[in-house]
Amino acid sequence: MSTNPNPGNPVDTGSHPSGQKLINLIRGWPSPSLLAADLLLQSATTALTDPSIYVPGLQYGPDPGYGPLREQLSQWLSEKYAVKPDVERICVTGGASQSIACILQGFTDPVYTRAAWVVAPMYFLAGPIFEDSGFYGTDGRLRGFGEDEEGPDVKELEREIQKMEQQKGADEPTFKHPAPQRKIYRHVIYVVPTCANPSGVTMSLSRRHALVNLARKYNALIISDDVYDFLQWPVTTTPSTSPVPFIKPLPRLTDLDLPLGRSSHDPQDKHFGHAVSNGTFSKLIGPGVRTGWVEAAPNLAYGLSQTGSTRSGGAPSQLVAAMITQLLKSHDVDTHVSTKVRPALQRRHARIVQSIESELGQFSISVRSEGEIGGGVAGGYFVWLTLPDGMSGKEVSERAREEENLVVAEGEMFEVRGDERSPRFPSNLRLCFSWEEEGDVVEGVRRLGRVVKRMKENKGERREGRFGNGDMSGNDISYK
Ligand SMILES: Cc1ncc(COP(=O)(O)O)c(C=O)c1O
Repeated sequence: MSTNPNPGNPVDTGSHPSGQKLINLIRGWPSPSLLAADLLLQSATTALTDPSIYVPGLQYGPDPGYGPLREQLSQWLSEKYAVKPDVERICVTGGASQSIACILQGFTDPVYTRAAWVVAPMYFLAGPIFEDSGFYGTDGRLRGFGEDEEGPDVKELEREIQKMEQQKGADEPTFKHPAPQRKIYRHVIYVVPTCANPSGVTMSLSRRHALVNLARKYNALIISDDVYDFLQWPVTTTPSTSPVPFIKPLPRLTDLDLPLGRSSHDPQDKHFGHAVSNGTFSKLIGPGVRTGWVEAAPNLAYGLSQTGSTRSGGAPSQLVAAMITQLLKSHDVDTHVSTKVRPALQRRHARIVQSIESELGQFSISVRSEGEIGGGVAGGYFVWLTLPDGMSGKEVSERAREEENLVVAEGEMFEVRGDERSPRFPSNLRLCFSWEEEGDVVEGVRRLGRVVKRMKENKGERREGRFGNGDMSGNDISYK
């Protein structure tokens, strides 16, 4: 039996010159203590011993996903978001990342779709998903736009869309042959409205309305990564180990869009809507389950289920979908999240915020401790720091690795690759508090404080070390 409390984390005490063990504040994974292995064991046993579950579970599944999971999801989500349950709005996916790829495959066109617009700083692993569908920053088809205290800067986005529309003129014909069950959108907008990765910002209600209106005006599809909606907690300086109840998230963009009915860009006989909610069990049960859902207008959910690879291979995650169905029925997912996941994240968040104040406050480094300013609620996995006096985030991150065996993410990772016009983050850092246990989160910030202090004291001096090029790919550091 391993004695390492965090067995996914390499412990390299001997190999680092500082003699300290590795602390990894890049990795955006749940720590092993948050994985729902015990619950999955029970539901797997049930699923694999009952032929009425395992026969469909082990076969090719229906295109929109395992029926009982869709039923459970529509009920569960209707309670969470206070909307009417509608199973036709649900399509089971292989998690949020796979789902973005399928949405882009089905609902965008390499010629007709002018650009994908992403909030910068962006969830950097979404970048390659857009590139796979031909949206490159270097070609002006993956475009970053800014955010402020309230979320995406919708006015800036509209200005930029208008400029693009004027430059490009009339509609180009589509390169793809339009399928009746799909619709090709002219723009895509990608956002993480609740506790964004990496900035932690939660989009205000008025901004949500404004974004939906803009999407409807310019024939855009909003892909809304709602992956942190259920991971919110009250901000407190004295967190306990008691369960942390669910906090109702702000309305999803799809739920603001749907009641507005068909837009002028919808075809005569169909309502595809202008927003898709992209959900996942990765952060609730464990990323390895590779199961998520889309909730959208029924026509869009169905169109997504008609992705070629889904029609051939069946819905993704069919067997795991059958297991998760048991966990939703028994309310075990909710219990796990409220008794384990949210309390642990709430405590780690409180400790990281306190440590940042005590270790970094003296250098004028502050942290946003709430999703919406004044809302009293925090969530997600990350905090976003701005360094003082233009200090380089890249240098801090390299020196942290060299001198303290600490891994943090520099702001440049969250820029939109190849889009020279979009916001830059040379003086930012993202710290993740989901992977390391509480004590190591605090120790990590302490080490960061030492790095910043040394950099302040000997300005300009730079020691080249073995990790000097910032490329950590060979060092067993994987991250999200
Ligand atoms: C905003 C965002 N979207 C998607 C993902 C990945 O989701 P999934 O595991 O469901 O593919 C992450 C994981 O860090 C994320 O932060």
